[in-house]
Amino acid sequence: MKPIITLLYLSLCLHILTLLVAGKSPPIYSPIDDITLACGNSGQQSSNFDPRTWIGDISSKYSPIEDFKSSTASQTRKAPPSSPASQPPYTTARLSYSEFTYKIPLSPGQKFIRLHFNPATYNPDFDRSNSLFSIKAGPFTLLSNFNASVAADFYGGSPLIREFCVNVETEQSLEITFTPAKDAYAFINGIEIVSMPTSLYYTGSPKLIGSRNLYPIENNTALEMVYRINIGGGSISPNQDTGMYRSWDAPDDVYLDDPSRRFSVLPQNNTIILNFVKILEYSAPKAVYVTGRSMGMNKTINKSYNLTWVFPLDPEFYYLVRLHFCEFEADIINYGDRSFQIYMANQTAEELADVIGWSKGNGNPVYRDYVVRMFMPPVGSRKKVDLFLVLAALQNDSLTSYN
Ligand SMILES: *[C@@H]1O[C@H](CO)[C@@H](O)[C@H](O)[C@H]1NC(C)=O
Ligand SMILES: *[C@@H]1O[C@H](CO)[C@@H](O)[C@H](O)[C@H]1NC(C)=O
Ligand SMILES: *[C@@H]1O[C@H](CO)[C@@H](O)[C@H](O)[C@H]1NC(C)=O
Ligand SMILES: *[C@@H]1O[C@H](CO)[C@@H](O)[C@H](O)[C@H]1NC(C)=O
Ligand SMILES: *[C@@H]1O[C@H](CO)[C@@H](O)[C@H](O)[C@H]1NC(C)=O
Ligand SMILES: *[C@@H]1O[C@H](CO)[C@@H](O)[C@H](O)[C@H]1NC(C)=O
Ligand SMILES: *[C@@H]1O[C@H](CO)[C@@H](O)[C@H](O)[C@H]1NC(C)=O
Ligand SMILES: *[C@@H]1O[C@H](CO)[C@@H](O)[C@H](O)[C@H]1NC(C)=O
Repeated sequence: MKPIITLLYLSLCLHILTLLVAGKSPPIYSPIDDITLACGNSGQQSSNFDPRTWIGDISSKYSPIEDFKSSTASQTRKAPPSSPASQPPYTTARLSYSEFTYKIPLSPGQKFIRLHFNPATYNPDFDRSNSLFSIKAGPFTLLSNFNASVAADFYGGSPLIREFCVNVETEQSLEITFTPAKDAYAFINGIEIVSMPTSLYYTGSPKLIGSRNLYPIENNTALEMVYRINIGGGSISPNQDTGMYRSWDAPDDVYLDDPSRRFSVLPQNNTIILNFVKILEYSAPKAVYVTGRSMGMNKTINKSYNLTWVFPLDPEFYYLVRLHFCEFEADIINYGDRSFQIYMANQTAEELADVIGWSKGNGNPVYRDYVVRMFMPPVGSRKKVDLFLVLAALQNDSLTSYN
């Protein structure tokens, strides 16, 4: 049994603007595999939101394999005209009351798998409320008893994207199997598979918060993206990513515990030239590192509160939390100019965080990884538990013993 862990990509750009680039900056990573499959469609489809062409799965090398024991094969349908998602891959779907499997030829290595869903009533026979299914990719169960309409309603409507990271061994193909629950159907609108750099998220062994142990992120770990946020800046669309078509949400305000946000300081620097000396340049788009949220440089104020974000998560999973930092304010250049503490899930994550200390200079982006386990709440049957991410100013001014 291979583990699946849920991934929280949390991009926290502490001090930082949106580069006013004319047009699209060139991607800096070129994925070997970049597959965009429009399920239930045929031929090539283009979308207003994505520069890539979506390939229909009908009569293509990607046509799914059906469950031969079943009498009902999968069907293809157009989304109803009332559906809010009007671009490929959301305009068509493949739906089935029995199991079906895509066998996708791929190079070995770590991949993003993005599953696109447009929950709608696909007449006849496929009512919106009647989908309930599980999805496996190779040995990993990506989703089980997934009710796409519940999930879409939770996030305010369709469409819905679920992003995973898995390692594909040497078999040269990946099987993705959709298995409906009894009397329910499974469906899919789009499948995207994009290679990722080997060092991107499978980076070793981050600190396991609340213990003295490390938590290795290895090839037998599958990750699911939960939040990826550009702190203090604007949202970043898949074409503005570094070549992997990730999207970065904004604003982060909605996750702050204090809605008044009266202490928040939102610095930005749109002239700085970043030096990627500590991390690889494709780690995150530059725009992530040139905007941010800080606690301000008035020590009476910055010591008087904690900067706190609250993220609702499913309990009983481990989460990878990646915090991205870059010091871009001109007067913060030395170790100790801005030091702080980080708490995660009410445990200390960093006794002494210092971005200059980590990055070795102003303008050098850096990130730090942590793994946190979210436990079941002691009482009640709430489906989500809150992860508190807290930054706190040091209460004393002496850092001399910390060099
Ligand atoms: C994990 O997978 C990657 C890509 O498939 C490979 O390069 C790497 O060597 C693997 N790591 C281990 C520890 O097997
Ligand atoms: C999916 O969730 C919706 C909304 O809660 C519910 O009405 C529907 O019955 C569920 N579908 C299945 C097959 O469980
Ligand atoms: C810092 O903030 C406090 C409280 O608002 C204020 O009284 C003080 O003048 C500020 N200090 C500086 C140096 O601006
Ligand atoms: C900030 O959070 C830490 C850890 O929970 C706590 O010890 C401290 O008292 C908090 N500080 C303020 C000003 O709320
Ligand atoms: C941006 O960074 C550059 C280079 O360090 C610096 O000269 C400039 O003052 C910074 N701008 C802001 C607004 O901090
Ligand atoms: C708080 O303000 C003081 C005084 O300006 C500064 O030295 C310190 O780095 C600030 N702390 C944080 C966490 O911003
Ligand atoms: C964690 O801390 C927050 C405030 O920072 C508090 O509201 C919450 O109840 C704490 N959770 C636990 C499990 O102690
Ligand atoms: C200053 O604060 C740090 C971080 O909380 C703490 O570890 C250290 O002991 C304090 N130093 C002094 C001199 O009090």
